[in-house]
Amino acid sequence: MHEFDVLIIGSGAAGLSLALRIDPRLKIAVLSKGSLDAGSTAWAQGGISAVIDEEDSIDQHVADTMDAGAGLCNENVVSHTVAHGREMITWLTDLGIKFTCETASNGKSYLHLTREGGHSQRRIVHAADATGWAIQNELIKNTSEKEYIKIFEHHITIDLITTHKLFQNPGGGIPNQCVGAYVLDTQTQRVETFKAKYTVLATGGASKVYLYTSNPDGASGDGIAMAWRAGCRIANMEFIQFHPTCLYHPSAKSYLITESIRGEGGRLLLPDGSEFMHEFDPRGVLAPRDIVARAIDHKMKKLGIDCAYLDISHKPKKFIQRHFPNVFARCLKSGYDMSKEPVPVVPAAHYTCGGVMTDLHGRTDIRYLYAIGETTHTGLHGANRMASNSLLECLVFANSTSKDINTCHLPEVADIDIPPWDESRVTEADEEIVVAHNWDELRRFMWDYVGIVRTTKRLQRAKHRVDLLIAEIDEYYSNFRVSSDLIELRNITLVAEIIIRSALSRKESRGLHYTMDYPAADSRLEYTDTVLDPGAESNTVNSMYMVS
Ligand code: FAD
Ligand code: SIN
Repeated sequence: MHEFDVLIIGSGAAGLSLALRIDPRLKIAVLSKGSLDAGSTAWAQGGISAVIDEEDSIDQHVADTMDAGAGLCNENVVSHTVAHGREMITWLTDLGIKFTCETASNGKSYLHLTREGGHSQRRIVHAADATGWAIQNELIKNTSEKEYIKIFEHHITIDLITTHKLFQNPGGGIPNQCVGAYVLDTQTQRVETFKAKYTVLATGGASKVYLYTSNPDGASGDGIAMAWRAGCRIANMEFIQFHPTCLYHPSAKSYLITESIRGEGGRLLLPDGSEFMHEFDPRGVLAPRDIVARAIDHKMKKLGIDCAYLDISHKPKKFIQRHFPNVFARCLKSGYDMSKEPVPVVPAAHYTCGGVMTDLHGRTDIRYLYAIGETTHTGLHGANRMASNSLLECLVFANSTSKDINTCHLPEVADIDIPPWDESRVTEADEEIVVAHNWDELRRFMWDYVGIVRTTKRLQRAKHRVDLLIAEIDEYYSNFRVSSDLIELRNITLVAEIIIRSALSRKESRGLHYTMDYPAADSRLEYTDTVLDPGAESNTVNSMYMVS
């Protein structure tokens, strides 16, 4: 049994920045189910939004975020997050991150700011087109130097350990408390127990639930599923963001092409070379992401075309190579020279706007369990996240969570006995094909039935199928030894079910949730979140409610 003061599950921007901000007198563990850079952070391209330019203001950043969020953002949360933007950039720069700068005519160097969809100003701080890579590497370097932070790579958390689970749901008003987690070391295949005074979920998003995604393989919604099983409420899971421009190529595995290309003058074209975005929004290619992705999807279906095209070939080659060196090289490798021709693009699942409900300090419904980063629903993104607000949210909430942990009285867990993981009733899996098949089936029907444009009938079909999968996977999970593939499949299937149920319950179209059966927004649902409550589930039939 490992014992720590703080157990951080996840080593992306959220998890590692939290680790660096926790009081060094505390014993900290950071887990990653892969290598430390396995999450989405390392892939982030565009940058981090922050009010830096003199022409810009906090009020404008707040207003843009609220507008992109289509009536569901929590203004307090938006103001809190945006107000800390500049401070976060300074913190990252002090860690050693070198953001792209330009030199003014007076010889002074200043941060180069780019622009992305929904932003009325240039306010994206970036490190060329590989901002996430720069941040992830520097965070890894800084945490690895700290002796009080113990890193566990290739350790996948199976489930949280709570007092309600240990003591068989005592009820009677005794609050549920998180005391750690069971974790599979994927190199030794042994399940280890981590006991902790505070546990933090920083496990990233769930976009792998779709067949086509910009996310790395580990985006299987583990934190959301674990929090749900432990008893936390989950909100707004119908709002899955599809990024409009991923490279369309049989071997490209949905490689993202950053929105800042449009911010620097890139145009979206149909195969005949015509522009189309102004038919959908006066902001054209810089409209919020939900609008652009839906417009491309609409044109693809209406015209029967395989993709749209992103064109920045009118800019000098030097400019393209300086601002987008990685995207340029990647496209060239796939046979497209961005400086000479348009690049074929399609939308792909990109970001999970909903998640584990938290307050401004990352606190969840369970005592001593926190959640930060993409795995959460804080109220910042509403029905559609504005570009580059995610890394900002990771950093701001890691900061406020650290303040809460650093100033709280350490809870006592010494008396709590945690039994080791029980494997007495399971055997070696005999049919791995079941796991592989269920992964494929799930991701395909989620793409076909729960995608950019939905209908009630398709959602009901998806619900029927996901229920069958859940029953099958539960049986498999009870009988066979756990593996990382099975752990992720169990989680992603549960998350899929939550997405479908949330989508079925929202009888309107808003932000990223568009259904042909209710094509307009319902003004009565402004500021109304879709909340699923596992606690209510076991007691009453109606476990879902909408909160204004
Ligand atoms: P992640 O960085 O995804 O890290 C998750 C961590 O949790 C990993 O370490 C993983 O190993 C670990 N983990 C997960 N499950 C378990 C488990 N069961 N047990 C143990 N460990 C586990 N946002 C922006 O703001 N600006 C951008 O320019 C931008 N560009 C993007 C480009 C791409 C291609 C992608 C995919 C995303 C982009 N985003 C961008 C979104 C942003 O990168 C993510 O939302 C953000 O990095 C999430 O950080 P995180 O720390 O919450 O999670
Ligand atoms: C991009 O660079 O287009 C991604 C930005 C984001 O997801 O915030």
